[in-house]
Amino acid sequence: MKSPSSPQRKSSFSFYALALSFVVFVAVLYGEDLSCILRQPFLKFQQLQGSEKQEESIATQEKDVVLPFAIGRTEKRCDVFNGTWVYDNITRPHYAETDCPFIQPQLKCQAYGRPDKAYQNWRWQPHGCALPSFNATFMLEMLRGKRMMFVGDSLNRGQFLSMVCLLQRAVPEGFKSIQIIGSLTVFKAENYNTTIMFYWAPFLVESNSDNAIVHRVKDRIVRARSINKHAQHWKGVDIMVFNTYMWWMTGQRMKILRGPFDGDLKDIEEMETEDGYRLALRSLVRWVEKNMNPERTRVFFTSMSPAHERSMEWGGEPDGNCFNETNPILDDPTYWGFASSKSIMQVVKKVLSRSKVPIIVLNITQLSEYRKDAHTSIYKKQWNKLTPEQLANPRSYADCVHWCLPGLQDTWNELLYTKLFFP
Ligand SMILES: *[C@@H]1O[C@H](CO)[C@@H](O)[C@H](O)[C@H]1NC(C)=O
Ligand SMILES: *[C@@H]1O[C@H](CO)[C@@H](O)[C@H](O)[C@H]1NC(C)=O
Ligand SMILES: *[C@@H]1O[C@H](CO)[C@@H](O)[C@H](O)[C@H]1NC(C)=O
Ligand SMILES: *[C@@H]1O[C@H](CO)[C@@H](O)[C@H](O)[C@H]1NC(C)=O
Ligand SMILES: *[C@@H]1O[C@H](CO)[C@@H](O)[C@H](O)[C@H]1NC(C)=O
Ligand SMILES: *[C@@H]1O[C@H](CO)[C@@H](O)[C@H](O)[C@H]1NC(C)=O
Repeated sequence: MKSPSSPQRKSSFSFYALALSFVVFVAVLYGEDLSCILRQPFLKFQQLQGSEKQEESIATQEKDVVLPFAIGRTEKRCDVFNGTWVYDNITRPHYAETDCPFIQPQLKCQAYGRPDKAYQNWRWQPHGCALPSFNATFMLEMLRGKRMMFVGDSLNRGQFLSMVCLLQRAVPEGFKSIQIIGSLTVFKAENYNTTIMFYWAPFLVESNSDNAIVHRVKDRIVRARSINKHAQHWKGVDIMVFNTYMWWMTGQRMKILRGPFDGDLKDIEEMETEDGYRLALRSLVRWVEKNMNPERTRVFFTSMSPAHERSMEWGGEPDGNCFNETNPILDDPTYWGFASSKSIMQVVKKVLSRSKVPIIVLNITQLSEYRKDAHTSIYKKQWNKLTPEQLANPRSYADCVHWCLPGLQDTWNELLYTKLFFP
């Protein structure tokens, strides 16, 4: 891992950010073994921990105990985000592509001709423990009469759709539906009175890319201190899952607007991406602190989703990308692509850890870095007709940002499930 502060790192970072933003511009055209899970009731758990010496750790545990939705815990020192991919064609995938009617055509890789299938068969295995198995019926029962909402960009929409696919198996025909209303996509499981939603807000805060359909804006402008235009639609939700990253990676300084969008847009301040990003996350934290009730609701933040644009980074051919990649990176536990900004990760860590209402980071970046095989690549519905030049060189239009379903994002949701019920 190279230091993010070296000048060389910085210039290549801008280069990749630029390349990445182009890809985003193109790609975002549309819009087991439960040994580590303690299942005893908390009362018993606390009795086991009764020694005075452990007073401090009890205090932290008691803080955990009040987390809503939790029914157990993951072994204290097990970092579920640190692990390895294991090929497992017995228990993976969780569902077949054809069995989930809600997958967008942009994420349906088999339907659009992907020849290989192994990308569906990898199971995430943390080093320190096993993950609880995802039980859709259980989750729906826990969410009875509740609302869950994903807010962010198209990658978060992918995670939302994965969650819908994971849960809808347990909902009988005639009791499930999906509806798009402007920025909001609403999945309903009527027999549970459960609603799972996705809300389009690629910067979380207000921006000129907020239209759910027409958001191809080259010159992005963000009102980093202003979140209520979106957040008014999030009120009363029980579980929030945020993300924001890709849209910030323009390779240029960010244009941060002080006034409203309806004026002449004169009061624009340019700043480093990290500084604009920090302002936006602070706006998010302020909103969470004011509007989310730590005794009844939960808040998650999915860390940056990596892209795989340059195979040279993982020792591949000079001009390759994720196209034609069929295996994860298994031999380099520290593999980290240039497009994933360590300094943005630091901002996420610092700003969110200071929130008075707990915001759990789903730190999926490292485990997704390994998955150069899991992108939609050329196997998706294309928005525009491909030119003969493109067709002659499939690499040129491969989408190395988004992920096939079923696939990697089901793991993100297994980790969300783990943190929700077994924090
Ligand atoms: C992940 O776990 C391995 C083995 O337990 C350990 O050596 C490594 O430092 C951990 N990595 C991180 C980022 O915590
Ligand atoms: C699962 O993978 C193993 C090892 O690669 C292979 O021998 C077996 O045929 C596969 N089973 C199915 C059902 O694909
Ligand atoms: C899944 O959860 C339901 C409801 O809690 C339970 O009845 C069922 O036994 C669970 N299934 C498995 C395989 O654990
Ligand atoms: C269904 O859930 C909503 C909250 O999402 C709640 O306001 C409503 O009362 C519930 N309806 C029934 C019939 O339980
Ligand atoms: C895909 O990769 C295989 C080797 O893994 C190679 O034989 C084949 O030519 C590649 N296909 C394309 C179109 O690059
Ligand atoms: C996420 O994990 C990586 C190591 O894989 C670490 O460097 C980073 O600080 C973590 N981020 C947060 C927000 O905890």
